[in-house]
Amino acid sequence: MNLARRTMNHPALAAVYERAWRPALFFAASGRTMGTDQRDAVAQLRLDGEQRVLDIACGPGNFTRYLSNALSGNGFAVGLDYSEPMLARAVLDNAGPRVGYLRGDAARLPFADGTFDAVCCFGALYLIPDPIAATREMVRVLAPGGRIAISTSVRDDSALGQVGKIVGGWSGLRVFPRRTFTDLFAELGLVDVEQQVHRLLQYVSATRPA
Ligand SMILES: C[S@@+](CC[C@H](N)C(=O)[O-])C[C@H]1O[C@@H](n2cnc3c(N)ncnc32)[C@H](O)[C@@H]1O
Repeated sequence: MNLARRTMNHPALAAVYERAWRPALFFAASGRTMGTDQRDAVAQLRLDGEQRVLDIACGPGNFTRYLSNALSGNGFAVGLDYSEPMLARAVLDNAGPRVGYLRGDAARLPFADGTFDAVCCFGALYLIPDPIAATREMVRVLAPGGRIAISTSVRDDSALGQVGKIVGGWSGLRVFPRRTFTDLFAELGLVDVEQQVHRLLQYVSATRPA
């Protein structure tokens, strides 16, 4: 297991992730706050009612509960992660009436095809050993008409990008070419594929045709 994956499994990181680690590192990488990312996630996933939402690699639930707050009626959000310390933290810090957490592997989701109306994976595909298989799984469990949104690293030729590449190589984080996920979404038949790049991070969303 590489350094990045070992770090994500450590109880000490789970304890500080939401309040310190994520705000600082993601702001440095993208210039965006967690609040901005959370609001954009709700907008990109078009959450506004009784949707069934799956948050892959949910960490301590910092997006899962926020997304669930946009739901109503029978809507719910499930956070899935492989790290026990992260999930323990999620239950402590981000429980709610429309939220549940589950331990599992993003590359082998324990759900039938088309189970969810919205599926997301933020800040994690660069850690997952087979990120393409994980993305295919996300699309498999997405219902027709559903929305998908991801954020992950992007290759960047600036000086900051070079630093990111060195840190990534040293820690085991992957850095993806700009078209990896836009092309994969198109290949999987998704439409309305949109990409934004903010410094070292890319944000990609799309729709599964009804
Ligand atoms: C940086 S955290 C992201 C948390 C949250 N989504 C966010 O954007 O702040 C990355 C998470 O990915 C999880 N993870 C990595 N590989 C995974 C896999 N194969 N299956 C499920 N979770 C995984 C780690 O346990 C960790 O909690």
